[in-house]
Amino acid sequence: MEINLLDRLPQVKRDPKARAAQKTEADRALAKQFGRDFFDGERRHGYGGYRYDGRWLPVARRIVEYYQLPPNARILDVGAAKGFLMYDFLQVLPGATVRGIDVSSYAKENAHGGMGSLIDIGSAEKLPYPDKSYDLVISINSIHNLPLERCKNALREMERVSRAHKYVTIDAWHTEEEHQKLLDWILTAETYMSVDDWVKLFADVGYSGDYWWFIP
Ligand SMILES: C[S@@+](CC[C@H](N)C(=O)[O-])C[C@H]1O[C@@H](n2cnc3c(N)ncnc32)[C@H](O)[C@@H]1O
Repeated sequence: MEINLLDRLPQVKRDPKARAAQKTEADRALAKQFGRDFFDGERRHGYGGYRYDGRWLPVARRIVEYYQLPPNARILDVGAAKGFLMYDFLQVLPGATVRGIDVSSYAKENAHGGMGSLIDIGSAEKLPYPDKSYDLVISINSIHNLPLERCKNALREMERVSRAHKYVTIDAWHTEEEHQKLLDWILTAETYMSVDDWVKLFADVGYSGDYWWFIP
């Protein structure tokens, strides 16, 4: 079902028009390497400094409560980046087994709080884990970085490796105005569509988990 489990994150002020006026194909290409420039370079190439500040802790708490995860839950974060959410899951559930996967070696090497050793380098469309091996598979703003067919595989893979819960957030829009804002804002995304089209796609690929939208 559609549910915002990120509602305890601080509101971030974004200026899509300013980014649209500035961004070039070269900026997008650099961002898509998901290296230092994307995480810790200039804002026009990504986060402009991706540092742990605890903002994901209330989100981790909310998710653990919502899914009533047991103390020894197995949790997989797809697109784990520097492991901030993984780290916070472990603050909430110290007995959990937490794993992450990301394409970025830079993020793994610069992961927070020892999370690097728990992050595998790989892509969401081919998860190196057995069927039904996690209680929760979560992916925040990551699988839309794959082109459509590979993005579909990523959803199938989330479904396959989960034995209970799945949660994904992705680039989407409800209205033409939101569509334009997203086009202005995006740097790395390859697959983005209206919320109605995403919901149809979830059904087509057999994704039965929960979802929410990134709308700048
Ligand atoms: C916008 S960041 C989101 C990071 C983190 N989940 C968060 O919400 O802060 C997108 C992440 O997806 C990762 N990524 C991009 N393509 C990916 C793929 N094919 N498989 C897994 N991760 C990918 C990037 O390296 C980056 O860490």
